[in-house]
Amino acid sequence: MTATTFPTQLIDRFGRKVDYLRISITDRCDFRCVYCMAEDMTFLPREAILSLEEIYLLAKTFVELGVTKIRITGGEPLVRKGALALLEQIGALAGLRELVLTTNGSQLATVASKLKAANVKRINISLDTLDPVKFKAMTRTGELQQVLAGIDAAREVGFERIKLNAVILKHRNHDEVGNLVQFAIDKKIDISFIEEMPLGVVDKHDRAEAYYSSDLIRADLAQRFTLLPSTQKTGGPSDYCLVSGTQTRVGFISPHSHNFCASCNRVRLTVEGRLLLCLGNDHAIDLKSIIRTPNATEQTIKQAIVAAMEIKPEKHDFNLQEQPVILRYMNMTGG
Ligand code: GTP
Ligand code: 5AD
Ligand code: SF4
Repeated sequence: MTATTFPTQLIDRFGRKVDYLRISITDRCDFRCVYCMAEDMTFLPREAILSLEEIYLLAKTFVELGVTKIRITGGEPLVRKGALALLEQIGALAGLRELVLTTNGSQLATVASKLKAANVKRINISLDTLDPVKFKAMTRTGELQQVLAGIDAAREVGFERIKLNAVILKHRNHDEVGNLVQFAIDKKIDISFIEEMPLGVVDKHDRAEAYYSSDLIRADLAQRFTLLPSTQKTGGPSDYCLVSGTQTRVGFISPHSHNFCASCNRVRLTVEGRLLLCLGNDHAIDLKSIIRTPNATEQTIKQAIVAAMEIKPEKHDFNLQEQPVILRYMNMTGG
């Protein structure tokens, strides 16, 4: 294959166009959310992770292969030293339509304007509860006030959109879905409700017992709001409704109850340099080894990425009743 014969679009064997890359730039986080991590986590040593230069090189290569949307995730991406400079570099890539970020919001109060300057278009902020005691219980280490201040700072800066992400767990925060939507309406932002996915073994938390489906959430919300169907898509897995009389969209991410794999358009780069073809499977290639091979060229890297599309699985199959099949924690992929 020569440089001129590389495709300008990545297509998998099921005909799905892959134009969305999610890059986890660190596995570290200042929170320890119960659905994401075990209480006592060991993080990757420095030599096991991609450098910022390597991440940029891969981002640029993917854009040359037709990726138009990059989402930076973690762990918590903003805890990585140099994250802002990396965002700025990626945000300037010609051919990239949008650079977006998923964050826990803990640092937004100080960096929101710098993110906007780095060309970040939209941000998603995790917020599972408005009760400071429950917030501490769900994140183990987080401070609600800090995140609320971060949300306000992000609103003042004026991103194209801000979306809250709430993972809903029965008996922990399921009774708050209405209040969370009202909060989003008051702040003139969007919100997605997420069904918990069984990634990694988490202690003191029974996922089958905590399952609360998107359909139950919709029914709860219908008591208080009129949700109008919306065909709007962001290129992500949310199914959106508009809250009547407001600017707020409510999304439902339902990997259990409404599988969205048929329209999957994304792959993930972990901070270890694995290109993961599906969140719910372990099909991957080791891009770190490829780019660290002494004679690696742009050609060999592109060849490996194009070839990887052939092993993208058709769908995920999560089962909450059994021990997780996927042993990696969510902080390795940023969702
Ligand atoms: P946009 O639609 O671009 O705004 O973002 P998003 O909602 O896709 O991204 P975000 O990082 O906010 O992720 C929200 C939730 O969607 C997380 O829990 C992710 O794990 C989940 N998610 C994103 N992509 C996939 C996917 O391909 N499969 C599964 N099962 N879940 C996904
Ligand atoms: N299941 C579903 N969503 C999860 N997140 C983290 N862990 C899980 C899980 N096990 C969410 C976070 C964040 C997004 C990137 O992924 O709350 O909003
Ligand atoms: Fe950190 Fe996000 Fe995982 Fe919570 S869900 S521990 S904020 S990476």
